Amino acid sequence: MKILYAASEALPFASTGGLGDVLGSLPAAVKERLGDDGDVRVVIPMYPVVKEKYISEMTLEAEIEVPLSWRHQYCGIWSLERLGVKFYFLDNEFYFKRDTLYGSYDDGERFAFFGRAVMEIMPHIGFFPDILHANDWQSAAAVIYLKTKYAAIPGYDRIKTLYTIHNIEYQGIYDFSILYDVFDMPEWDRSIVEYDGCINLSKGAITVSDRVSTVSERYAEEILTPYYSHGLSGILSSCRGKLSGIVNGIDVSYYNPENDPAIRYHYSAKSFAGKDKDKALLQEMCSLTVDKNVPVIAMISRLVAHKGFDLVCRVIEEMLCCDNVQFVLLGTGEPAYENYFKYLSERYKGKFSAMIEFNKDLSKQIYAGADMFLMPSKSEPCGLSQMIASRYGTVPIVRETGGLADTIVPYNKYDGSGNGFSFANYNAHEMMGVIRQALELYSDRRAWRKLMRQVMSVDFSWQSSAEKYIDLYTSM
Ligand code: GLC
Repeated sequence: MKILYAASEALPFASTGGLGDVLGSLPAAVKERLGDDGDVRVVIPMYPVVKEKYISEMTLEAEIEVPLSWRHQYCGIWSLERLGVKFYFLDNEFYFKRDTLYGSYDDGERFAFFGRAVMEIMPHIGFFPDILHANDWQSAAAVIYLKTKYAAIPGYDRIKTLYTIHNIEYQGIYDFSILYDVFDMPEWDRSIVEYDGCINLSKGAITVSDRVSTVSERYAEEILTPYYSHGLSGILSSCRGKLSGIVNGIDVSYYNPENDPAIRYHYSAKSFAGKDKDKALLQEMCSLTVDKNVPVIAMISRLVAHKGFDLVCRVIEEMLCCDNVQFVLLGTGEPAYENYFKYLSERYKGKFSAMIEFNKDLSKQIYAGADMFLMPSKSEPCGLSQMIASRYGTVPIVRETGGLADTIVPYNKYDGSGNGFSFANYNAHEMMGVIRQALELYSDRRAWRKLMRQVMSVDFSWQSSAEKYIDLYTSM
């Protein structure tokens, strides 16, 4: 089976969040299972953040011109191999040599170019996949071009497509005036991308793709309802038969407290001595009072509304005043949250510490050093942090939505079962009540250690989900 993944990010090369994690680990997991029967490749844009050590390993496969309406744009095709998977990097400095991966005024054109380039490189790299697996709106155009412009061309005509929604909030919405000029789409394809009076790339890919998936079973159901779908529940309901949910896994060798080079003291579920030292180190590093008996709650997230920060803001000062607890927060995002959390760091020195940055190594030190991990998302397609936290023995506290509901079974105080704490309604005091239950259990050292071991024993590797993707590819 030949599979080509198209996406806008992949670890360890370039990433802004969970999408990069998935593209950095799922293809290798699929390849491992397919063995010699699998030819698995990934294509992403070439960004300036790609480290020199990877660039020096790359080979230039070809230099081509990519047509995009009246434009002809340069595209250098670079490649390298990693864990049996071939990665292609599409180089065009005009489009991708930017300070950030997204957020430019011309993102639409940048990723239209990317989509078109994904089509154009195939004859040059001598690879026409059986499956094109596109991810989120940035690679939606690839699917749309394949099913329109390229549909009748030999080689392309047999490719099946899977379009995966990692977050339905981001859809790629543009004005119709640039349908041809930027997206190189003729008037007769207008209805494919038309939604709510705009061009909607995600809607286009959902419409034409052979299958559509999302990153947990619960989210696959949720996005059929208006509350979660950001306007797309109608179109998704009409395609229900081709929609499914497969929960993400994580790279358990990259996130491994037994040998993670990013953390100082290593440990496993057999002994938490290393974790205790990582906690002291974290408290010291964050200017929190160093005290092993005070539970540390971590939040590592993009600081955006759907991650549930409104709930946190509503009750955190009450907890900082009344509860024996410390908070560590890492992430960047909306200025209102950034400013508020900086203010809390000043106001509650020793109890609250905010680090407004995106830093992978630091995030791992926090996962290792904290006791609990708070993720009260309003919506959460899958969520990886709760699984990563679990891997480091840090007990997740989550809202029961999307992948959080699919991965965390709430602690049952009568029989001691479960792998975290959860609450159902998007309500700040319900969240606080559950955090307080966790704090209470924390004071029972033996019960808490038992829960930590339970949390660490859950298998969040790609094992079963990679099999599910292979079954889905095979059925296509
Ligand atoms: C997005 C979603 C997150 C998911 C990730 C990977 O970042 O918000 O829930 O885990 O994609 O699929």
